Amino acid sequence: MELVPGNSLITATPEEGRALAVKLARLSVKATQPDGDVRQRLRPVYGENADSLIAVAQVVATEFATIAAANGYWR
Ligand code: HEM
Repeated sequence: MELVPGNSLITATPEEGRALAVKLARLSVKATQPDGDVRQRLRPVYGENADSLIAVAQVVATEFATIAAANGYWR
């Protein structure tokens, strides 16, 4: 399974932290469903469902909260 570059939660900026949060969320989906054909098939299903997209946003927000804490909120 693909690893996060640098294998670290530390990022230079909140924006980079956000990008890492999206990446980690996507890696969790990939770990859960390794079949790329299945993921391709499900992409339009979640992509056009408002509740699914809200769920995606929540997962990313949870990852981001962890990353922000690990970075001391970039203060
Ligand atoms: C595309 C994020 C869940 C399958 C994308 C893109 C983002 C994203 C940002 C657009 C990438 C781009 O066009 O540059 C996420 C996040 C998820 C999630 C944060 C969950 C927290 C899922 C799930 C599936 C899925 C559940 C299917 C099981 C795909 C596929 C694409 C895609 C197939 C298209 C990749 C391509 O353009 O070839 N996702 N996604 N994703 N996602 Fe998700």
